[in-house]
Amino acid sequence: MKLPLLEWNDVYLIGVEELDFEHKDLFNRLNELHEELARHDDTARIDNCLGEIYARVLAHFALEEKFMQETNSPNYEEHKSEHDEFLEVLVDIVEEFHNNSGLGSGTGLEDQLRHWIIDHIQTRDQELSLGKM
Ligand SMILES: [Fe+2]
Ligand SMILES: [Fe+2]
Repeated sequence: MKLPLLEWNDVYLIGVEELDFEHKDLFNRLNELHEELARHDDTARIDNCLGEIYARVLAHFALEEKFMQETNSPNYEEHKSEHDEFLEVLVDIVEEFHNNSGLGSGTGLEDQLRHWIIDHIQTRDQELSLGKM
């Protein structure tokens, strides 16, 4: 059993229940991908994980953006553009996976996902705690 890619820590909580729930869920989904990549033997399962991550990230960003608008959160435009950039990165990752039918060791990809999610939750998403539901 490999170590998880991401370990949840309550310092990541922003105090908005639905959003915290989804952040934890994203951690779990990325850890699942990490395990599938380590197993390295089932392209269809890796593909499923990627599809699931993309769908959940998309839904999560939509919920967060709705929340920001409803609570007049600061820095809406900047926050949304970080989301949009990340979605482009995710699309590239999925396309590359389909074109090469594999991600190699996946290490670069995992580092990218891990850093992005942790940085984003600790900076932009923390601003959301100012306008709790
Ligand atoms: Fe966000
Ligand atoms: Fe978020």
